[in-house]
Amino acid sequence: MKILGKYPKLRLRRVRKSDWVRRLVSENSLSTDDLILPIFIREGKNKIEPIKSMPGVNRYSIDRLSYVIEKACNLKIPLVALFPYTPDNKKNNYGTESLNKNNLVCKALREIKKNFKEIGTMCDVALDPYTSHGHDGIFVDGDVENDKTIKILAKQSLLQAQMGCDIIAPSDMMDGRVSEIRKILDKNNFKNTKILSYAVKYASNFYGPFRDAVGSKNKLKGTKKTYQMDFKNSQEAIREVAMDINEGADMVMVKPGMPYLDIIKTIKDNFKIPVISYQVSGEYSIIKNGIKNKLINEDSVLESLIALKRAGSSAMVTYFALDIAKKLRSN
Ligand code: PBG
Repeated sequence: MKILGKYPKLRLRRVRKSDWVRRLVSENSLSTDDLILPIFIREGKNKIEPIKSMPGVNRYSIDRLSYVIEKACNLKIPLVALFPYTPDNKKNNYGTESLNKNNLVCKALREIKKNFKEIGTMCDVALDPYTSHGHDGIFVDGDVENDKTIKILAKQSLLQAQMGCDIIAPSDMMDGRVSEIRKILDKNNFKNTKILSYAVKYASNFYGPFRDAVGSKNKLKGTKKTYQMDFKNSQEAIREVAMDINEGADMVMVKPGMPYLDIIKTIKDNFKIPVISYQVSGEYSIIKNGIKNKLINEDSVLESLIALKRAGSSAMVTYFALDIAKKLRSN
């Protein structure tokens, strides 16, 4: 690109001089419409339990869910993502609890759909909250078995759709799961249930606090590197997304967020599809602790989310959703 103009005729600082002119020329903005709030759910009654590894984030029992959903609705957050903290005695090698219509996610979906019409619900499809080994699929001879796993994931998806889930979000990184899921949904007349595929999910070191939050951290045997992407790769992300679009994904996720801005941009430039990014638990806790310890200020949250938008995200999953929505509203 040819640079037009030269100093001293040209002074780029002119349009940075005051707040109104900075607002006038700003290229990106953040609105509450861009936010997806993750919610952790747990068993029991009247429980709002702080998660140590994620300061400011709680696990809610079903009867206290309305407390947080109501806040999200009032702030006009369009979508919540549900994650269960399954007790150990309900976990096994096959993750069968994922298919129990009275599991935590199903109960939460029924509760939310009964009381709140204006907010969307999204659920992860993967077995890790339910398996005794902490993997996203079933474990056979030291590896996660792809083809058997996607049959279970399809059933899990159908169950979630039947319970009222609006967006099915496979986060397991098995091959071929999106088409299995689309097939079973269509066959059962859930033609309008959307699929947001975690198409580009890296085997990241930034998931630690989440695994603690859903109780899979100390369980995980081995590594997820045989199915989640290698963080050294970017070309492969294009193939992952192409494959999932062909199989019927309506939207795709890139995860984690900030260390992968180049990937978000690559996907946005290559495909005309909504790209959602996930500011994961590790990113959250680092920023949150940085603010707590006064190493960085609160506006770093805004900066981190605008960065994700600038790269090409249509919306972001973020544990800061409530805080930032409040802040945006008071502006
Ligand atoms: C599980 C899942 C993970 C996250 C969302 N869904 C963790 C993992 O793959 O181990 C991570 C979210 C976060 O760190 O905030 N399939």
